Amino acid sequence: MSILSGKHILLGVTGSIAAYKAADLASKLTQAGAQVDVILTGAGEKFVTPLTFQSVTGRRAYTDNDLWGNEAHILHVTFGKTADILVIAPCTADTMAKLAHGIADNLLTVTALAAACPILIAPAMDGGMFDHPATRANLAALQSHGVLVAGPAEGYLASGLSGKGRMVESVEVLGHIRNVLGKRGKLAGKKIIVTAGGTQEAIDPVRILTNHSSGRQGYALAQAALDSGADVCLITTPTALTPPVGARVVCVKSVQEMLDVLINESADALIMAAAAADFRPKQVAKEKMKKRDGIPQIELEAAPDILKIVTSSPLGAGSGSPAGKKRFKVVVGFAAESQDLLENAAEKLQSKGLDFIAANDISAKDAGFAIETNRITLLFANGTQEILQLMSKTEAAEKIIEHTARLLE
Ligand SMILES: Cc1cc2nc3c(=O)[nH]c(=O)nc-3n(C[C@H](O)[C@H](O)[C@H](O)COP(=O)(O)O)c2cc1C
Repeated sequence: MSILSGKHILLGVTGSIAAYKAADLASKLTQAGAQVDVILTGAGEKFVTPLTFQSVTGRRAYTDNDLWGNEAHILHVTFGKTADILVIAPCTADTMAKLAHGIADNLLTVTALAAACPILIAPAMDGGMFDHPATRANLAALQSHGVLVAGPAEGYLASGLSGKGRMVESVEVLGHIRNVLGKRGKLAGKKIIVTAGGTQEAIDPVRILTNHSSGRQGYALAQAALDSGADVCLITTPTALTPPVGARVVCVKSVQEMLDVLINESADALIMAAAAADFRPKQVAKEKMKKRDGIPQIELEAAPDILKIVTSSPLGAGSGSPAGKKRFKVVVGFAAESQDLLENAAEKLQSKGLDFIAANDISAKDAGFAIETNRITLLFANGTQEILQLMSKTEAAEKIIEHTARLLE
């Protein structure tokens, strides 16, 4: 998570039952390499102690005592100037009201008023409190002041009732923080489409023909593109993964569905990380094939070649861009091969007119499908190569996004 590495994050914790989630958030941010300074309100301290945060961040946590302590006035001004972002999670109705009206009566609210950095809040409260016209007006005021808001989510509330007011989970707050920090990255203002997962070709209403792709590499690419400030569209087949916060997600199943979506899209770059089927059943049985009818003979046909079709069909009139213009300025492919890796990848690079291809040796135990690491060689259209040693799919994604950004410069 290089986007968070070395970043100075101020985490405000207010008096909500959801304050326990802030400890997890502080821990995740610290593990990702951020310097996390926590400020608790008096009510926040009733729910979690400064010691909890000191233990997970390795830094002292601040309370209202520090507002009147030795560092006094310097503290809030310094924090407000040096932080990359002020995150208030959970944010109570009370703190929202104070922030909306410029009230600065504790260390957190005085810091927020002095802050020159972006402010992100994750509201947490009972559904009735969130729905109250006063809270709604405060939320609208905060948004009009440029404060960013994560959630709240629908679901079980501490009151025992269900409704909208739950603080979003820490991993989602983390996603919002990444979006804010990435805003001015190398891909700011660029649109990137990433495809992910293994396509599913129906045999009958019950059975499918698919592959082992987990979608991990594609999702990591979408996250890395977001971290670089891109506007990301993730076209994904069903996976067990949670899409990164901020991506526009389009769900598809078959190669045809993926093609139907892509043919209506244009972007600065297309990264085809999905494992799209080469073959599909020629006929899809209308009813479930029954065992009693014997072993079926399933005839296959070639599935549409998505890359070939979308790269050879320029934009038409009415697509929002000049007709005849290339659909994608940069196209990146993946070649998952079990033999003759580089030869096969080079052939695909050339035949599909790609800018570069990530050749992926799926015969290696520590690379390829459904695991966290990958061993990739990048082959470029100009004939150069770059071998990426064994690394996490996140790191591999960051390298691929760096090259994509370089080609778009
Ligand atoms: C057990 C308990 C749970 C509370 N949970 C919330 C909550 O989830 N959201 C909220 O807005 N207020 C909640 N409150 C009320 C706030 O703690 C109270 O408004 C307090 O003044 C907030 O101060 P602060 O915003 O400075 O942290 C709760 C109070 C108690 C006693």
